Amino acid sequence: MAKVFISCRIFPEEVKRLEEAGHSVEVHPGDVIAKDELLQGVADAEVLVCPLSTKVDKEVFAAAPNLKIVANLGVGVDNIDLREANARKVVVLNTPGVLTDTVADLAFALMLAVARRVVELDKYLRTEGFPGWTFMPPYLGHDVWGATLGIVGLGRIGSAVARRAKGFRMRILYYSRTRKPGLEEELGCRFAELDELLQESDFVVLCTPLTPETHHMIGPRELSLMKPTAYLINIARGPVVDEGALVEALREGKIAGAALDVFEREPEVHPGLLELHNVVLTPHIGSASAGTRRRMAAMAVDGVLTALQGKKPENIVNPEVWPGRL
Ligand code: NAP
Ligand code: GLV
Repeated sequence: MAKVFISCRIFPEEVKRLEEAGHSVEVHPGDVIAKDELLQGVADAEVLVCPLSTKVDKEVFAAAPNLKIVANLGVGVDNIDLREANARKVVVLNTPGVLTDTVADLAFALMLAVARRVVELDKYLRTEGFPGWTFMPPYLGHDVWGATLGIVGLGRIGSAVARRAKGFRMRILYYSRTRKPGLEEELGCRFAELDELLQESDFVVLCTPLTPETHHMIGPRELSLMKPTAYLINIARGPVVDEGALVEALREGKIAGAALDVFEREPEVHPGLLELHNVVLTPHIGSASAGTRRRMAAMAVDGVLTALQGKKPENIVNPEVWPGRL
């Protein structure tokens, strides 16, 4: 029997599955946890199940001497100090795959919303009223279909974005850490170095994890390479983009617009972004469909139950430590 601490509300049936397997479960009753509550919660826990807004740093590991598993409710694990997890032989799990298509859908929702000015014009209609159909309205948008799409990070989500782009008859460029000849053929996309991708794309979609290498991958220099008619879409992680530089580029008209699901200092949003009409902002909802959140919770609990039975789960982020302390 293991002591499981869950640092946010999750679906009760998943808590029940852990309990029915004989484990004792404590669930933090809120959606966000304060550091002192987290430190207290993990003090005697062998398993921590957490959302990606829970920062699992050295201090948290130090406060959890019995910790064997951290199961992240998300695919990105930049909220977890992996070096510390490895040093302590703590197994880290995440939720890849089950959210891929839901996040790729949001990439398209953001692309269409910013290019066709959906949010801006919804606000306009509610405040100014519908002026009637006119042939030359002051609010013409730009086509997504047929445009050039630049995908940065052709992994699970990047590929799902490319699959959708084929339906929009887009020309697809990608830049990724490694070339993907199989995907190039399957998706009809072409590899380009980052600079070339930025220079040629009408829409740049960021789909990489946040790592030391991708931190501020898009800064002032990269933004200045983009076309003044191009849009930047970030569904990856906020710090992949230098947010201050992005605000400057948008203010100066160096790019046409941006649509952002993630922010550099979440939950803070750069005040400059809030003032701009050519920006669409969503509160980190990439995987936030009801079905996908259920699948993520189930995957996290499946992984925990599998690991606690001494079997290696598929969704292990640091297989090198397996079986760790289990
Ligand atoms: P994935 O399958 O691992 O794909 C990531 C891709 O990024 C891989 O192709 C990887 O290249 C590439 N990459 C890594 N480092 C790079 C670098 N320095 N330069 C260029 N490319 C690099 O992961 P995924 O499931 O698609 O998820 C990607 C990320 O999306 C997550 O880590 C998370 O941060 C973010 N995400 C956001 C939301 C949201 O709510 N907005 C939801 C889910 C995920 P290789 O193929 O060579 O490894
Ligand atoms: C969400 O941002 C995730 O990484 O799953």
